[in-house]
Amino acid sequence: MYKNFNEIILNEYKKSSSEITSFFYNDKKYWLKKARATKSSLSHKIYYKFLKLELIVPVEEKTAKDALVFETNKLIKFKNLGIEVPTIIFKNEEFFILEDTGKNINSYIRKRDITKERMYYFIDKVLLHLSNIHNNGEFHGGAQARNFTYKDGEVYAIDLEDSFDNSIDLKLLQFRDFLLFLLSLTKTRASFELDYNYIIEKYIFLTKNYTFKNKLNKLASKISFLIYLSDKKFINNILGRDVKSFFKLFKILKNL
Ligand SMILES: Nc1ncnc2c1ncn2[C@@H]1O[C@H](COP(=O)(O)OP(=O)(O)O)[C@@H](O)[C@H]1O
Ligand SMILES: [Mg+2]
Repeated sequence: MYKNFNEIILNEYKKSSSEITSFFYNDKKYWLKKARATKSSLSHKIYYKFLKLELIVPVEEKTAKDALVFETNKLIKFKNLGIEVPTIIFKNEEFFILEDTGKNINSYIRKRDITKERMYYFIDKVLLHLSNIHNNGEFHGGAQARNFTYKDGEVYAIDLEDSFDNSIDLKLLQFRDFLLFLLSLTKTRASFELDYNYIIEKYIFLTKNYTFKNKLNKLASKISFLIYLSDKKFINNILGRDVKSFFKLFKILKNL
C-alpha cells in the first residue's frame, strides 16, 4: 500500500541531510529543495566595490524563508509568462517539491565524446530559453549550464533563488546571466573548440541586446593584464584546464 504523498515528503525532508535531494513516488521522480539563506561573502563584496566587475555583483542577502518565497514565486511568475520551469508540487516554509525536468545541461555538454551537432543542439536550446527570459523583462540569476535541465526536447530553468539590490539595472543582470552561461561552457571537455562568436551573435540576434558585445569586450580589456600573463609559457604550464579555458574565452572576448 502507498503511504500518502504528504507523509512521504515529510519523511524525505527529515531523513535527507542535503539541501537538494531527489526521490521517487509512484514511479515518478521529484526534487525536494530546502530553504536556505542567500548571501555573498564579505571578500566578495569588497572585490566588487574595487573591481566593479559585472560578473560579481553580490547577491541580495535573504533569510532561508525569504529565499524560498522568492524562488517559488519566481517559478510561478515564469510559468505564467510561458517560460519553461518545473511545476511546484508542494511547498511550505521549510522546503518545496518540484517535478523532475531531466538531467542538467552541464551533464550533457561537459562530455568528452559529445559531437558538435549535439553540443550546438543544447547550446541553441539554452540560448532560446535564456532569450525568452530576457525578452520577458526578467533575469535568471544563475544562468550557468548546470541550472538548466533538459527533458523530452524541452529546456527548463531551475535554481532561481538569487536576487539583487533594487538599484541594480535589469540589463546588468541579463548581461551577468549571459556571461555566466558563456563561462559555464568553458567547462566542457569536448574535443573541439567552441565558436563563442556564433553564440554571442545568436544571443544578440535573439534579444537585440546589441550593447552586450561591446560590454563583453570591455570586460575582457579590464582583465587584459591577466590574459597577457596567462599566455606566458611558464604561467600557462601551471594553469589548470578550467582556468585555461576561462582565459581562452576572455581572449576571444578581447578580440570581439
Ligand atoms: N526540477 C528538477 N529537475 C531535474 N533536476 C533538478 C531539479 N531541481 C534540481 N535539480 C538538480 O539538482 C541540482 C541542484 O539544484 P539547484 O536548484 O540548482 O540547487 P543549488 O542552488 O544547490 O544549485 C541541479 O543542478 C539539477 O541537477
Ligand atoms: Mg544550481
